[in-house]
Amino acid sequence: MCIFPFPHFPRKLSFTCHYAMSLLKRRKIRAFTVLFCIVTFTMFLFSYTLHDPSLYFFKYPFRLPDSFFSKGQCGCQQCMTELDDDPWFTERFNLSVHPLLTRRNSLLTDDTYRWWQWLQAEQQPANFSEVVEKLFQVIPDADLYMDAGPERCRTCAVVGNSGNLKGTRYGTLIDSNDVIIRMNQAPTSGYEEDVGSRTTHHVMYPESAIDLDNTTSLLLIPFKTLDLQWIISALTTGSIQHTYIPVQSRIKANRDRVLIYSPTFFKYVYDTWLENHGRYPSTGFLSLLFAIHICDTVSVYGFGSDHYGNWHHYWEENNMGGAFRHTGVHDGDYEYNITLLLADKHKIKMFKGR
Ligand SMILES: *[C@@H]1O[C@H](CO)[C@@H](O)[C@H](O)[C@H]1NC(C)=O
Ligand SMILES: *[C@@H]1O[C@H](CO)[C@@H](O)[C@H](O)[C@H]1NC(C)=O
Ligand SMILES: *[C@@H]1O[C@H](CO)[C@@H](O)[C@H](O)[C@H]1NC(C)=O
Ligand SMILES: *[C@@H]1O[C@H](CO)[C@@H](O)[C@H](O)[C@H]1NC(C)=O
Repeated sequence: MCIFPFPHFPRKLSFTCHYAMSLLKRRKIRAFTVLFCIVTFTMFLFSYTLHDPSLYFFKYPFRLPDSFFSKGQCGCQQCMTELDDDPWFTERFNLSVHPLLTRRNSLLTDDTYRWWQWLQAEQQPANFSEVVEKLFQVIPDADLYMDAGPERCRTCAVVGNSGNLKGTRYGTLIDSNDVIIRMNQAPTSGYEEDVGSRTTHHVMYPESAIDLDNTTSLLLIPFKTLDLQWIISALTTGSIQHTYIPVQSRIKANRDRVLIYSPTFFKYVYDTWLENHGRYPSTGFLSLLFAIHICDTVSVYGFGSDHYGNWHHYWEENNMGGAFRHTGVHDGDYEYNITLLLADKHKIKMFKGR
């Protein structure tokens, strides 16, 4: 209130008085606001440095950690999803399609089931939902890795089997990742210097299976209902010895770490990322897309041909050039193009080898 003692004073002045009073009030508020901001900021800095045992801010007052002003959505410097993401990528990348089969997502649409059964034209498949039920009595039913967020920085290496790994000495670099994905027959023993020695996930199907150590997750890509029956059998009774070719009847693997590639995700990779090129995606491409969905950064090793243009495995002598690119089922050129495009858009880092 502004009590003005001179009633004959021009109204204008009275108005000015009102204005001055309110300005004074506002100033108080402003002063308070500024004080409040200073206190909050100080407290924030304090709690921030307390969180960080290295007292980061005091040690490096002009350098904040990657996650602090990260424009992405994870704790790494570069994240799989960024705020200013490329439209080509965002049109395709769909985090709500989960890569691993669980009881919850095991009910396939008719479309997906029909496509998936068509892959290897299985005759008289067993009842899918009954097999899935038996499967999850043997292996854990867990929806893993779907924990993307500002706190997470999961670094992954996808290690293909190309001969271009020979002589690269990538081993230490590969082993420094949180997740290391290898596939099919890939050995590490004897090749550690170039390919590393750790494997957290080994991707395979019954016809390409090998024994694993206790710490590695077996990631099975099923192409038919029989493949799910095979993994149950291979971890228990060993009764299935044949699919369309003879297969290992038992497998050494930690059954608490066995994971199943979801047929729904499989079809999503084929439809969305390959736009139906080839008959179905290769193990390498399926592994890459798995990594892209569960990791924050993805490094790719051992994809593509070697520097002579030859396609062969790093553990084999190079005497069958071209044998792996044109198998008739995979469109290797198209897959490789998409892989290069992902690298162009900084979604993956390609280590091209020699
Ligand atoms: C992502 O996948 C979910 C689940 O399959 C689907 O409902 C949704 O439409 C997809 N989103 C896009 C943008 O394609
Ligand atoms: C598969 O088994 C489930 C449960 O036993 C049953 O409800 C379903 O009808 C069966 N499906 C087919 C195609 O036979
Ligand atoms: C493998 O790991 C499981 C637990 O995940 C354990 O029960 C089992 O004894 C281990 N086996 C070997 C051979 O170390
Ligand atoms: C790969 O990309 C190149 C250039 O972008 C294009 O010319 C070529 O046709 C593509 N190959 C396939 C198989 O799509």
